[in-house]
Amino acid sequence: MSRIAYVDGRYVPHRYASVHIEDRGFQFADGIYEVVAVIGGRRFDEPRHLDRLERSLGEIDIMMPMSRAALACVMDEVVRRNRVTDGILYLQITRGSAPRDHGWRDGVSPKMVVTSRHQPAPSGQTIENGVPVITAPDQRWRRNDIKSVALLGNVLGKQKARRAGAYETWMVDSTGMVTEGTSTNAWIVVGGQIITRPLGPDILGGITRAAVLDIARELQITVDQRPFSVDEAGDADEAFLTSTTAYIIPVTQIDEKVVGTGKPGPVTARLLENYHRLIDEFLKS
Ligand code: PDD
Repeated sequence: MSRIAYVDGRYVPHRYASVHIEDRGFQFADGIYEVVAVIGGRRFDEPRHLDRLERSLGEIDIMMPMSRAALACVMDEVVRRNRVTDGILYLQITRGSAPRDHGWRDGVSPKMVVTSRHQPAPSGQTIENGVPVITAPDQRWRRNDIKSVALLGNVLGKQKARRAGAYETWMVDSTGMVTEGTSTNAWIVVGGQIITRPLGPDILGGITRAAVLDIARELQITVDQRPFSVDEAGDADEAFLTSTTAYIIPVTQIDEKVVGTGKPGPVTARLLENYHRLIDEFLKS
């Protein structure tokens, strides 16, 4: 079956799907994206993703190209045409196409691309064993709360992890504090308390992060939203990372240091169990 992409008003075969060379997303990374999990053929936690999309677009002065209702129709169609049951939906909105000029002219119209593909949830083995992460300086710009397609710092960080045989790189600010992973949020557990960096310009407000905070509240697990250092993370009882595609993955090694017992810990396991409960409820709804 051939894949279909939505590109600026048209559904086209994936291999022919393209944007203009003067698209500002291509030339300046002047655009915003979202990644939504498709579970059982439906989009998980969609309202939160659309809230974040609208916020990101607003922060860089790009108009939503269509209403939420119209966007929902496009996303339904892309998932349906690609017959995705479990996977992801990728949505990108750039400022549009115009002769190259750093500043933009009013009137340039946003361009939207939507794709969807099958992608399995993290394997049982990954969750049972946990994954290693490495750390590296955070080299990104200073508005990481905006889900911009300008991901060079993240891309280089992820590749560094790959070369080191690690799952992720936890990026570290100039004061030695962990900001987040290159495509995931970072968490540790100390004395039964969950610690994660507070929302702000240094991190992306993850949708999975928000879901985990809801679960922690429900389970009455204390959450301390504060920055933590690489040393503190190495000495933590547990560590984990979260994202739309990773869900919740235990982190069992940070650089050379084994975290806790070297096995996924009980707090992470409880969160994961409850995240799966949310997914089951979603599937039944
Ligand atoms: N990445 N931090 C960064 C830098 C991210 O790129 C992501 C998501 C997250 C987690 O956010 P969420 O829980 O909403 O997925 C945190 C997506 C999956 C990606 O770029 O593919």
